[in-house]
Amino acid sequence: TTYRIAVLPGDGIGPDVTNEAIKVLNRLEKMDETFKLDLETFDWNSEYFLKHNTMMPEDGLDQLKKFDAILFGAIGDSRVPDEISIWQLIMPIRKQFKQYVNMRPIKQLPGIKSPLKSDAPIDFVVFRENAEGEYSNIGGSLYDGQSQEMAIQNTVITAQGVERIAKYAFEYAQKNNVRKVTSATKSNAIIHSMKLWDTVAEKVANNYEGIELESVFIDALAAYFIQKPESYEVVIASNLFGDILTDLGAALVGGLGVSPSGNINPEREFPSMFEAIHGSAPDIAGKGIANPIAQIWSAAMMLEHLGREDLATVVMNAIEKVIMQGQIVTPDLGGTSTTEQLGDAIANAIEEQ
Ligand code: NAI
Ligand code: MG
Repeated sequence: TTYRIAVLPGDGIGPDVTNEAIKVLNRLEKMDETFKLDLETFDWNSEYFLKHNTMMPEDGLDQLKKFDAILFGAIGDSRVPDEISIWQLIMPIRKQFKQYVNMRPIKQLPGIKSPLKSDAPIDFVVFRENAEGEYSNIGGSLYDGQSQEMAIQNTVITAQGVERIAKYAFEYAQKNNVRKVTSATKSNAIIHSMKLWDTVAEKVANNYEGIELESVFIDALAAYFIQKPESYEVVIASNLFGDILTDLGAALVGGLGVSPSGNINPEREFPSMFEAIHGSAPDIAGKGIANPIAQIWSAAMMLEHLGREDLATVVMNAIEKVIMQGQIVTPDLGGTSTTEQLGDAIANAIEEQ
């Protein structure tokens, strides 16, 4: 089968880590003749914005629609306001392509140390609601020209929106023999939107006998993530809560350099998009030292989504092998290797399997 992949490297370290992910995909292609890639790269990033005053062409989404999946680097550049890069590129793709599931595994790979004292292995997955919630552009600000200034930012929670993310998480739990789904809430203080979140989550949970729904206030949950991360298996969270929880989760298992994600349209009406959870990392951009594992792992999630679990496993085994050998390590994990060296090592480990 030939898989058509749209590649959006983006800004900063985005292109560096995406190059390594493609290196790995190309190596798979070389090894397995049933696996063919048709890659098309799009230069829609901040440089593009500075030239065209838009992050992507008007028919950008139409161009992307025909692909089987999207591999996205990261976006963000000091010359372009973040709200433009995010709202003109990432958000339209996530929202228009109904990628309402943001799947973020928080998984400690063997050989990577957690900053926590406990050595219980950390392995859970956060399903972040990805299409509505706190990340809405509804609202506005008022300034009376003197002293009164006010801003309102609306959160959109719909029953349909909560139902589909909760259902996805419970289906996942059922398939993986998980007995508990944890829901991040804050309905004690956010009494309208989060109450609806709770109500719908409970309704969905009622359809899954033998799987418990545990609702936990987001503030406490943040603390529990540090105190007892081993007690979580499947977590659902709103857009903002999920965003914060997963950066926290990433820190528990080696950091942003090793934390992948998939923006998934479960109905497969549109392409899904895979990206490391990190941003463009301007502090290390251009130095060639970003850790490519998060992006390579995201590519593995893409393979799984495309129905090639076999190849996803090959990639994950290669990543784990290189980590366990401990020879090629980027600075974020205490080593001195470059992005390219680590990408090469993983690609070579694929060939050795
Ligand atoms: P960031 O994730 O880019 O960086 C946070 C810290 O983690 C930095 O110290 C960075 O060096 C480190 N880091 C991130 N990825 C790494 C990797 N692969 N290897 C080693 N170290 C890594 O977040 P920050 O600094 O808050 O945002 C920078 C820009 O990225 C902003 O413009 C922001 O809007 C954008 N951003 C874009 C996202 C996306 O494209 N989906 C997601 C998050 C932020
Ligand atoms: Mg984030």
